Amino acid sequence: MLFNSNQMSEIVHLHDKHFERFISESRIQKAVDQLAKSIYEDIGSDEIPLFVGILNGSFIFAADFVRAYPGDSEISFIKLASYAGMDSTGKVKQLLGLSEDIKDRTVIILEDIIDTGNTLSKIYDTFEKLPVKELKLATLFFKPDVFTKALHIDYIGISIPDKFIVGYGLDYDGLGRNLKDIYQIKENIMKNIVIFGPPGAGKGTQAARLKEHYQLVHISTGDVFRANIKEKTDLGMLAKHYIDKGDLVPDEVTIDMLKAEVEKNPEAKGFLFDGFPRTEKQALALDAFLQAKGTMINAMIALEVPEDELVRRLLERGKISGRTDDQDASKIRYRFKEYERKTAVLKDYYQKQGKYFGINGLGDISEITQLLKEVIDQF
Ligand code: IMP
Ligand code: MG
Repeated sequence: MLFNSNQMSEIVHLHDKHFERFISESRIQKAVDQLAKSIYEDIGSDEIPLFVGILNGSFIFAADFVRAYPGDSEISFIKLASYAGMDSTGKVKQLLGLSEDIKDRTVIILEDIIDTGNTLSKIYDTFEKLPVKELKLATLFFKPDVFTKALHIDYIGISIPDKFIVGYGLDYDGLGRNLKDIYQIKENIMKNIVIFGPPGAGKGTQAARLKEHYQLVHISTGDVFRANIKEKTDLGMLAKHYIDKGDLVPDEVTIDMLKAEVEKNPEAKGFLFDGFPRTEKQALALDAFLQAKGTMINAMIALEVPEDELVRRLLERGKISGRTDDQDASKIRYRFKEYERKTAVLKDYYQKQGKYFGINGLGDISEITQLLKEVIDQF
């Protein structure tokens, strides 16, 4: 059997958002039982009510509700929708699907959630014209802070704050209906950036400025390696073992070192990853790791500078620093080829998630910082 990892977690990830567990399955069940009991007490055993579930969201609630209802009942469904994504569009569509004879019946609408009340008022308008004996409304979840209508809601299961929820039939852009518990949106307050750039692009300079401005923890893989080796940590010794043999340090070791670095900063406002991830495997591991912490990479920002300019800059630097690898134009060009070859897969990886931002790295240092900030300020 396939195991849905979202089913059990404290935090689930749907599309681009994180949600954290908010209301347990058993608490929901108690609220459903309570609603069924109260409604039955009001209607009595002599009457067979017609429950009308509002699709799609109420399908799970309605299924549990009719089974919790102590008396006989009928159930039907109608469809209405007002939500695309997470914003109420304020427009509700036509009501579809009611085929039962409702003349002189007691009709009880079953809503999964009432937010602004737009949907509800549309339902009222429609039913008011119909010859029902009585119309009542029951909702499992209710957001009192945003409800704007003067309409009366007869039965309310659980009142919740004005925060988007998913699970138990409720969705975020189609996903999350299958979750047994209710999850509440978790606003991502961390800013996690991967910064990229070929040698000479000015990455170090810009990273220092961003770190300062956003109070981010700057994690440079090179520094992390050197520090671990110097401090003789277990991971450092492991990495050294590979390096001494002339082998590449395996992804697992690099990933564990980076994770340890993140864990050292539990209060961080975000991280600026520099020189990591380098492979798709590392990028996947980083995503999974951050996701489990309820956060994610917001952007991969690459400083783009034409190759000729980079060669010029590095040759200039070579004259001053005496670094031999910065003194030979053909060696420099080879390093760019390597850079492009190795980073193309990552550019692809983040581009597919809409997280790749190329920044013009030519020009005044402060102007470039400004461009970087414009990207980061979106999050
Ligand atoms: P209203 O018309 O603003 O009251 O919104 C009612 C509809 O919006 C519900 O039937 C849901 O489909 C959707 N909705 C409102 N709030 C949420 C939420 O927190 N999670 C998922 N869907 C919601
Ligand atoms: Mg609904």
